[in-house]
Amino acid sequence: MKKRILIIGASGQIGTDLTSQLRATFGNHKVIATDIRDDDGTLGKDGPFEVLDAMDYEAIEDVVIRYEITDVYLLAAMLSATAEKFPMRAWNLNMNSLFNVLNLAKDKKIKKVFWPSSIAVFGPTTPNNTPQKTVMEPSTVYGISKQAGERWCEYYFNKYGVDVRSIRYPGLISYKTLPGGGTTDYAVDIYHKALKHGKYICFLSKETTLPMMYIDDAIRATLTIMESPKEAIKVRSSYNLAGISFNPEEIAESVRKQVPNFEMSYAPDFRQEIADSWPQSIDDSEAQKDWGWKNNTSLEDMTSIMIKNLKDK
Ligand code: SER
Repeated sequence: MKKRILIIGASGQIGTDLTSQLRATFGNHKVIATDIRDDDGTLGKDGPFEVLDAMDYEAIEDVVIRYEITDVYLLAAMLSATAEKFPMRAWNLNMNSLFNVLNLAKDKKIKKVFWPSSIAVFGPTTPNNTPQKTVMEPSTVYGISKQAGERWCEYYFNKYGVDVRSIRYPGLISYKTLPGGGTTDYAVDIYHKALKHGKYICFLSKETTLPMMYIDDAIRATLTIMESPKEAIKVRSSYNLAGISFNPEEIAESVRKQVPNFEMSYAPDFRQEIADSWPQSIDDSEAQKDWGWKNNTSLEDMTSIMIKNLKDK
């Protein structure tokens, strides 16, 4: 079968790394990168790039037909911290973009959909070492939109046979592109500031432990779930995915091994409440069992990779 991939929201933190990996795997011209913002020269360099609004059904359909797209990765979304400032805009973007893609799949215009969920679907009443099936009472706009999205994914699979696959990403750490508007963004920013200024003011308190993951693991998980046989994917809402859990003090300590005089101070803001509502650790045994998931990168390894690559930049 000839595979043609469309990535919506390709210029963001996940999209940048995912586009290169998908192009390396399936061929540059098979992967169409799109984003609401014009390309800065990164994604259009080795393959097709188009400006595309995830809210515009006709525009997405046009790209799907022109490029004979089979698989869509929908990454456009407003993340947790920004969504608290613009609740209705976040809801509209996060939900309508999903409906656009699910409906294309329902009408058999595409074959397969990837849509990311998040640890934000959990809330203050969720137990730690969070099982796949558990109490889910998210208290953020972003979390509510992701939880509703999960329900719709499962609904489209059950009612219309839509082959949609999803992962609940933890906070993701990468060096190629900055994240934007998330609560876990401090764990990326810390590396940039450590190298630039030797110090960082963290917007979460030092004991705020959250589930996190290095981007290479997250991208590998994404390709693995998408390329697994259909029957292997038993969860059609979204899979728990665990990487590494750490708090700001622990990541600061790992940075200090590479940048000895690094200083960290703390000034928690509104994002503290968001972080406090999320679990500290995730049980991903279903993903391990169903499609062979296993995290590779430790906190120490991730810090070495981040510092080395940001220095080279
Ligand atoms: N990293 C995201 C955020 O902080 C969670 O999915 O919003």
